[in-house]
Amino acid sequence: MRLQDKLAENKKEGKALLATNFYNFETLSAVLAAAQSTGSEVILQVSESSVHYMGLKIAKSLADSALEQYGVTAWLHLDHGQDLNLIKRCIDIGFDSVMIDASEKSYEENVRITREIVRYADNYDINVEAELGYISKLGQDQKMIYTQPQEAKAFVEATGITALAVAVGSAHGFYKEVPRLQIDLIGKINTATPVALVLHGSSGIPNDQLQAAIKKGITKINLATEIKNNFMKSLQQVLNETDNIDLRKVFPKATAQVTALVSDKLQTINSI
Ligand code: 13P
Ligand code: ZN
Ligand code: NA
Repeated sequence: MRLQDKLAENKKEGKALLATNFYNFETLSAVLAAAQSTGSEVILQVSESSVHYMGLKIAKSLADSALEQYGVTAWLHLDHGQDLNLIKRCIDIGFDSVMIDASEKSYEENVRITREIVRYADNYDINVEAELGYISKLGQDQKMIYTQPQEAKAFVEATGITALAVAVGSAHGFYKEVPRLQIDLIGKINTATPVALVLHGSSGIPNDQLQAAIKKGITKINLATEIKNNFMKSLQQVLNETDNIDLRKVFPKATAQVTALVSDKLQTINSI
């Protein structure tokens, strides 16, 4: 099934997919093991920097072969694409979905750039996500511009996107204080627009708020920082306890921690 159809189905049924970022073989297998053991479908995301780190071809074929081996249904997505050439290369190589993030530009520029990617992606019939308003990056900037329902409606009509990243009180990275999502705003945007709504910045959001957000119309939940943090903290701990240089014995301990984390998130999301 195409991701855009799956997300539309989710919107109708009040369900959501977890979209997890992966960075290497270990984090990819960790996510797929969690999806397999909980019987879940997932979205596998790579950021532009992860594409640069792994190489586009390796990222794509790693995801393809891992999916086949784990027997999991998943979609491959480019997260926060800003480089139009890189986005087009991801589309050409067979990604199921891309995000064009021009949220820091003016509304008109955001519409123009997003339209360009929607038009390009049309030839491949894939999911296109864009961002309206601004979801801040904790530790880098504090600005936050909430998505306005009527502007969201106009933006969706003007661009033809199939998924919209909304700024509703979440932020990228770890929060200093427990965040408070604007659940009513999610409901209003959901009524105003026909497309799937995406919650970014899910690391650090309590489970009850994630579930409330899904009930009001969030259909894709993006999770990154907790995965990185969990993997690296576990790895540090293992390395403190051993001087084993056999990385095939060392890495799996950190991988298992990420599998536990993602399984827990999947259960939270699936239990709605
Ligand atoms: P977190 O890093 O806060 O989980 O946000 C992830 C995200 O939005 C990826 O696009
Ligand atoms: Zn994000
Ligand atoms: Na976050």
